[in-house]
Amino acid sequence: MTGRFDDHPFIRACRGLPHERVPVWFMRQAGRSLPEYRAIRGTGTILDAIADPDLSTEITLQPVRRYGVDAAILYSDIVVPAHAVGFGLTVTPGVGPEVENPFTSEADLDRLRPLDPEADTPYVLETVRQLVAELDVPLIGFAGAPFTVASYLVEGRPSRDHVTTKSLMFSNEPLWHALCDRLADMAITSLRSQIDNGASAIQLFDSWAGALSPAQYRRYVYPHSAKVMAGVADTGVPRIHFGVTTGELLPLMGEVGADVVGVDWRVPLASARERVGAGFALQGNLDPTVAFAGAEVACDAARAVLTDNAGHPGHVFNLGHGVMPATDPDVLFEVVKTVHEEGTVD
Ligand code: CP3
Repeated sequence: MTGRFDDHPFIRACRGLPHERVPVWFMRQAGRSLPEYRAIRGTGTILDAIADPDLSTEITLQPVRRYGVDAAILYSDIVVPAHAVGFGLTVTPGVGPEVENPFTSEADLDRLRPLDPEADTPYVLETVRQLVAELDVPLIGFAGAPFTVASYLVEGRPSRDHVTTKSLMFSNEPLWHALCDRLADMAITSLRSQIDNGASAIQLFDSWAGALSPAQYRRYVYPHSAKVMAGVADTGVPRIHFGVTTGELLPLMGEVGADVVGVDWRVPLASARERVGAGFALQGNLDPTVAFAGAEVACDAARAVLTDNAGHPGHVFNLGHGVMPATDPDVLFEVVKTVHEEGTVD
């Protein structure tokens, strides 16, 4: 499978191949940390902004222009497919996804019919096409992993302990698997449509998977995330798999079929590489809070990440989680510069 960006450092790093410089992008690089985002974002919910391809295209491009990062990530959200099939949810600013009638029973499965991207989310595909026409770096498409999306649909709002989600999985395993199977199909359909329209890589966000033990992950989550990864394997695009507090899950997060495993700041890259094993690239893992200590401290911390990676070609520099809204973009600019100037690849 050959793609337009096969020789780009980001794609080569995802494949563990030698390349010129350490590639860097940031999760949540678009969004509230950027004054140019706040200037054009408007007052509706993020779902309204996503439904406007010209606006979403511009928002996606803003951090690429400002930082000179090596990849763009589509401005969208992991709950867009469930919203588009009419599950009934909104994204409340400052809170996150909220569901009026959370998922509780078998009857709720009917609220999750299959996604038809051309009909249900034409605006997402239009945004992807506009971006691919404009960008000179790879575009990352994405989807939420079944567990993390299920956690919003079941809890009805962001949750710290995921107690309602976990009690559903423990008490009604068949219903849990039926829910996740639908969400896996939705993720596959959405990812394939983004790839068909020109996305060069994909990231599966299982942000909250770290709430589970390895045994729980293997039994309740692994089959569904593995189905998503297998469902896009034939496209040949690099598959990144990300979550936070996943130290104990890192080997499984590779084994499900990822090419690149996201690592948060809690696990040094050298240890993560040992845990994940050979044959995988890593993405991460600067602590996003170091940006609040100023450029000098942040750049030193970035150097420590580079040192930890020790020149391994399979490394995509990123934060360990998303850019926080109050982050000073000038600090991130300096981090990108440091990574590009000082990062070395063996
Ligand atoms: O720049 C990028 O990374 C691309 C855009 C992107 C958004 N959400 C935009 C967004 C991506 C990849 C996501 C994925 C997403 N959405 C995740 C996984 C990533 C992660 O952070 O772990 C999760 C858990 C969600 C659910 C969600 N959507 C949350 C928790 C929030 C934050 C609520 C808030 O206001 O603080 C959202 C809303 C959201 N999605 C915003 C953005 C820029 C902020 C709201 C806005 O600007 O209107």
